[in-house]
Amino acid sequence: MNAPNAMPTPAATASRSTSGTNDSPATLAGGAPCNAPSAAPLSDEQQYIQHLKAHLRQSQSMAALGELTSTATHEFNNVLMTIINYARLGIRNRDDESRDKALGKILDAAERASKITGTILAQARNRSESFEPTDLGAIILDTLVLLEREMNKYRVSVTTEIQPGVAKAIASGNQIQRVLLNLLINARQAIGEGGELLIRLANSDDNQSVELVVRDSGAGIPAATLPQIFDPFFSTKNGPDESGKGGTGLGLAACKEIVDAHRGKIRVESTVGVGTAFTIRLPRA
Ligand SMILES: Nc1ncnc2c1ncn2[C@@H]1O[C@H](COP(=O)(O)OP(=O)(O)O)[C@@H](O)[C@H]1O
Ligand SMILES: [Mg+2]
Repeated sequence: MNAPNAMPTPAATASRSTSGTNDSPATLAGGAPCNAPSAAPLSDEQQYIQHLKAHLRQSQSMAALGELTSTATHEFNNVLMTIINYARLGIRNRDDESRDKALGKILDAAERASKITGTILAQARNRSESFEPTDLGAIILDTLVLLEREMNKYRVSVTTEIQPGVAKAIASGNQIQRVLLNLLINARQAIGEGGELLIRLANSDDNQSVELVVRDSGAGIPAATLPQIFDPFFSTKNGPDESGKGGTGLGLAACKEIVDAHRGKIRVESTVGVGTAFTIRLPRA
């Protein structure tokens, strides 16, 4: 289900590029913003809008941090259980072989734990918000560390395809990780129990961009709903799920805003009952 590459440029006009019949996937694309700075002083109304926008951004980043914290806490707890269990095993079995094995497992788990807290600290501190040549492959792998347990729990089989020698993107690693986390959690929730998730990173055909695809075999999005999914507060979920994720309707709005700020493009294609694919293009370094 490959969508046409043609994407409209103005941000405000998110338009469907196919009519979304039952067979063909419905698609929607968003482009870069056109912020024409105006010299005239802002009216009260414009100031109020700016104020509300600032609030919205704040809510979006709080929601993102909330999802990240909840994800990481569950994952961290899981790692601690591994450490505790292998420490117990090492104490019980005094032979060198068992102890070496236990210590090896403890070391692996502790390294994972440190990666998890590292990610949280980086996000909380807003480190690397600047746009710089960024290895998106590494970001994909770091993000998957956070979601490994969750994907296993819901029996989601994750495939990662990173093109060898793929270019770096001009990006904020932190922000792109937020986007990825949003997309992966949405995909996991759309899959429910048992399904496939593909994450693919490659140079675009024209070699000008790096293309990231997140494709799931989940419920899909009805064509009628598709134009709304990037709207702030649009959600079809009844609040957060049992692991505290989703339901705010702020995830995709934040994704779009972040991709727009990168002068990138985000596009979605979806077929009900088959699945959904989000494609993000970012300028290559
Ligand atoms: N991968 C997906 N599969 C199906 N529906 C999706 C997917 N991603 C997003 N959606 C739809 O878009 C809506 C908005 O997503 P989002 O902005 O992340 O908010 P939230 O996850 O809090 O509901 C979701 O409620 C869901 O209906
Ligand atoms: Mg979401």
